[in-house]
Amino acid sequence: MADHLRKYEALFTLTPQRMRMIVEAFKEALELGLEKPSQVVPMIPTFVFGWPTGKETGDYIAVDLGGTNLRVCLVTLQGDGKFEITQSKYRLTEEQKQDDGQKLFDFCAECLRTFIDTNSSEPDGVLTPGEILPLGFTFSYPCTQERIDHGVLIRWTKGFGSPNTEGRDVAAMFNESIEKYQLPVKLTALINDTTGTLIASHYVNPRTKIACIFGTGCNAAYMEHVRDSDKIKSMGITDDVDMAINCEWGAFDSFVHEHLPRTKYDIIVDESSNKPAEQSFEKLISGRYLGEILRLVICELVDEGVLFLGQNTYKIEKPYVIDTAFLSLMESDPTDELLMIIGIFNHFFALETTLAERQFFRALAKLIGRRAARLSACGIAAIVSKMGYLDEGCSVGADGSLYNKYPGFADRIHEGLQDIFGEKGRNIVTHHAEDGSGVGSAIIAAMTKIRKEAVS
Ligand code: BG6
Ligand code: GLC
Repeated sequence: MADHLRKYEALFTLTPQRMRMIVEAFKEALELGLEKPSQVVPMIPTFVFGWPTGKETGDYIAVDLGGTNLRVCLVTLQGDGKFEITQSKYRLTEEQKQDDGQKLFDFCAECLRTFIDTNSSEPDGVLTPGEILPLGFTFSYPCTQERIDHGVLIRWTKGFGSPNTEGRDVAAMFNESIEKYQLPVKLTALINDTTGTLIASHYVNPRTKIACIFGTGCNAAYMEHVRDSDKIKSMGITDDVDMAINCEWGAFDSFVHEHLPRTKYDIIVDESSNKPAEQSFEKLISGRYLGEILRLVICELVDEGVLFLGQNTYKIEKPYVIDTAFLSLMESDPTDELLMIIGIFNHFFALETTLAERQFFRALAKLIGRRAARLSACGIAAIVSKMGYLDEGCSVGADGSLYNKYPGFADRIHEGLQDIFGEKGRNIVTHHAEDGSGVGSAIIAAMTKIRKEAVS
């Protein structure tokens, strides 16, 4: 297996020099997106102006439609930089992700109805019956916004494909479902998970300047000076203020494929996805795809007669049967015999493995996971370098299953940042943003209220 491993090492390893080239191209893509509308990396103005003060108070409902789960939260901001949160999680099925758009929002409203009913009933209810609460809706897909409580879906990402949604105002669609279910809430802010994470991270750690999600999808947000963006100024915002930008960086290098080191496995993942040529950066990094990349390498070796000779491999030949969580388990298996890997192959795919094969699978997982983290470092480095944060240093709030659960993911990002920037790379440190987007959407709803009161 050693020869094979060397081949994959060459394919999946990113040298510091290559990383620096990616950072340069990435920076240009960010700048272009800020200058002109409708660019590949859209750099979306979010209408979230500046940082929270930490003095925001009140009760808010947050509905968070991510790539895998729907979360409903009641967030109480206490006005001293602290908060309390009560939440429920609902799993989305693959069918729901392809079902009609309005039905998806109806499902969100239905879950919200259940949450409100459960939390309003005596004796433990935390909601006051009859009260109308402001709602922050975290909708983690690219939407163009002209104001904070509206957003037109540019395109679905992360495998979603619900018809009748792209090109429409998703806030209006959710409002329709809210009315249908007669919910005591008012949608006041539509936000992206990265924007929520940015604001929530800064609320608890004011050194935060960037936020990233490394989960089913991959994206970042940061705070930009309006005066530095022709595109924002042309939207009529001429005040010298700061506004959070949702980069939608998962789209970097889409369509052209000029800068990223795509292997033939990445190309298969892309071409067999429901959105070929799109989300090129995300497809090399995020949790939705890493397991599939590993599976394609394994299938190639099965076809070449290198693996599982004489065994029935039909189970592992099905697309997406290797979950990225398996790669996490493979990398974290503490036993010499790699017993967890035996278990995975036996239980899920009815396959027997030798120790050499298991060591090979673990090494492969490491190559794929490490490449994802090092590419993530390139994205962070592009923002750091564009904004001039390197000397002073900054914190990067991060959330998502890959960041939180994949062993060593954060360390590998940090190592990547040092490969790009040298010693100074140590000035950029990621940290886990607890309850990022739920709390973030509550804080943003509060900031919106304060801003509206100040204007009227
Ligand atoms: C959660 C955030 O913690 O992480 C969501 O609340 C975000 O807003 C999610 O979308 C991303 O991770 P994953 O792994 O669910 O895609
Ligand atoms: C996808 C979405 C983006 C989201 C990210 C993380 O890239 O397009 O909006 O922030 O996933 O969930």
